[in-house]
Amino acid sequence: MAAHSTNQSSARKYSIDATVARSHCLRRRAADVSVARVYQRKDRFYRRAKSAGWRSRAAFKLIELDQRFRLLRRGDRVVDLGAWPGGWLQVAAERVGAGGLVIGIDRTPIEPLAGPVVCVTGDLRDEATLAMVRERCGGPVDVVLSDMAPQLSGVRATDEARAAELAARAFAVAELLLRPGGRLLIKLFQNDESARFVEQLRHRFKSVKLTRPEATRAGSAELYVVGEGFRSATSP
Ligand SMILES: C[S@@+](CC[C@H](N)C(=O)[O-])C[C@H]1O[C@@H](n2cnc3c(N)ncnc32)[C@H](O)[C@@H]1O
Repeated sequence: MAAHSTNQSSARKYSIDATVARSHCLRRRAADVSVARVYQRKDRFYRRAKSAGWRSRAAFKLIELDQRFRLLRRGDRVVDLGAWPGGWLQVAAERVGAGGLVIGIDRTPIEPLAGPVVCVTGDLRDEATLAMVRERCGGPVDVVLSDMAPQLSGVRATDEARAAELAARAFAVAELLLRPGGRLLIKLFQNDESARFVEQLRHRFKSVKLTRPEATRAGSAELYVVGEGFRSATSP
């Protein structure tokens, strides 16, 4: 009887172990499939960017957002914050044409681009960099773009705080540089703070929309906020 019950319990244990092992195995397979999908997705945009001659896969995000919101127009003067390696600069240069101006700023030196593009190297949190950018603009601009992203530490709270600081800085730069009626695009990371940030923007733009382009990596908390119809502090 004792042996029978031991057999029964070991059979039950085996069946539980087998079930657990099978579910681990299924979960791992599902995880592998989802990782593979992420890479397929990355490869798709990465390969398309390479074959089209874009410097980054991020170019597709701006192409899509521009199609949806008509951010970039012929002859526009555009400032691109956090512009290295320059995918957005290439897209913006194509859209504004030879009569426009595109100023790209990054901490990492950007390899020069032909056409209406001017590259500035510097940290946008420094006043000296901002002064340099203002001088290059020579007056108000039509569009401010920011794809700035912090170097990730892996500590969620730190990374979110850094990302929020960059988004706030991009907004402050836009307030200094945009002409009344101008347009703004800023990358954000979605959290409680980002909702408050978007509320601030609503006071300064006629229309504010949140969006997530298709080329965004799966699982990313990244979002873009689009502001149209800038109201400067001095406008009525
Ligand atoms: C996602 S990348 C930009 C990609 C770019 N939009 C493109 O299409 O190639 C983010 C960039 O933000 C820059 N960045 C982050 N913090 C910055 C800061 N404080 N000042 C200037 N650039 C910064 C990084 O150096 C990085 O190159």
